[in-house]
Amino acid sequence: MSVAAPMPMIDGLDLEGRRVLIRVDFNCPLEDGLVADDTRIRAALPTIQYAMDQGAKVILASHLGRPKGEAKPGLSLAPVGEVLAGHLETDVMLTDRPVGDAATRLSKELRSGQVLLLENIRFHEGETQNDEHLARQLAGLADCYVNDAFGTAHRAHASTAGVAQLFEDKAAGYTMAKEVAALGRIMDSNRLGFVAVLGGAKVSDKIGVIESLLGKVERLLIGGAMAYTFLQARGIEVGDSRVEAEHLHTAQRILKLAGERGVHIGLPVDHLCADGFNKDAKAVLVNTSEIEPGLMGLDIGPRTAEAYSSVLCDARTVFWNGPMGVFEFSQFAKGTRSIADSLGECAGWTVVGGGDSVRAVVEGGFEEEIDHISTGGGASLEFIEGRELPGLSALGYRREE
Ligand code: 3PG
Repeated sequence: MSVAAPMPMIDGLDLEGRRVLIRVDFNCPLEDGLVADDTRIRAALPTIQYAMDQGAKVILASHLGRPKGEAKPGLSLAPVGEVLAGHLETDVMLTDRPVGDAATRLSKELRSGQVLLLENIRFHEGETQNDEHLARQLAGLADCYVNDAFGTAHRAHASTAGVAQLFEDKAAGYTMAKEVAALGRIMDSNRLGFVAVLGGAKVSDKIGVIESLLGKVERLLIGGAMAYTFLQARGIEVGDSRVEAEHLHTAQRILKLAGERGVHIGLPVDHLCADGFNKDAKAVLVNTSEIEPGLMGLDIGPRTAEAYSSVLCDARTVFWNGPMGVFEFSQFAKGTRSIADSLGECAGWTVVGGGDSVRAVVEGGFEEEIDHISTGGGASLEFIEGRELPGLSALGYRREE
């Protein structure tokens, strides 16, 4: 059992009539200049609404995309502000730049219950450098600080780490607290009946989390392109499937470690393959060890999906991160959808993180059946890895095994 230092919560702050800077994660996908998925905006509403109800003057900071210190009009938070205003049923003012004269003036003119959204904080090059001057400019806008941006908690940036050091009065918002509780519960789960499903393109992105999970789970089911590095590490021919040759040794080490720890590793037994990576590619069903040169595996096959499904339906705890195939091509999305279906039916405690996995759950209509849908992809993996997340430690949170 691990212990965690308690985290100060927004409920403990005196907010009435005070300016509160809330770091949110509004890094939402955009399509044609509009918000394509407002999950992250909805996730922040309880914290923002609470602050408004308490009579706070609310100042929101977020990044959107990776503009690398440049004010790129296509990454303005304007469309996000509009969606937020709709949800809150109030005006949301947007500054022209994240900090500067206008932001300072508007922050001073704010009245209780009003909301000011700072323009994309990554338009300022100091954000990703955790620049002290930027942190001071942000701190100058408010009297207290709340971090509700779990999705960005693994970044030591000016608005997540640097600025928090400058406030006496600081706390976590409700999304942050919910994520920490749900992912903390995963870390403390009983090994029996604990199944992790990991997918995605690269083993290299998941090494840390796999190593951490090997000490916690009974079974680890692997899909996505990363499965081919594991299959090749077992000496199986994988045709032209994507393999990270430089990580074959890592995959072998992981398989050996799993054996020593008694963790059952599930790898695909059949595959939907194609002769090229494109959206019109024809899917061909092939068994493992029969993937010819010229073919590449782009999704798990139906026998694999069925085998994974029967494991998942009986699981007591499930953590899923990463697609089983090329989810963006409809003919290779079935494997990922089948995992979402199985989690929807699982009576155990289920947690899902990562863009495509969450999308499959939402599109399958299983949102209500999943116990926790994480708003953080990278952040949830780093949390499970047991790494310190700067956005959390800046609030005084510590987790010890
Ligand atoms: C995310 O989408 O995972 C977070 O918003 C963090 O974004 P980043 O990877 O660009 O730092």
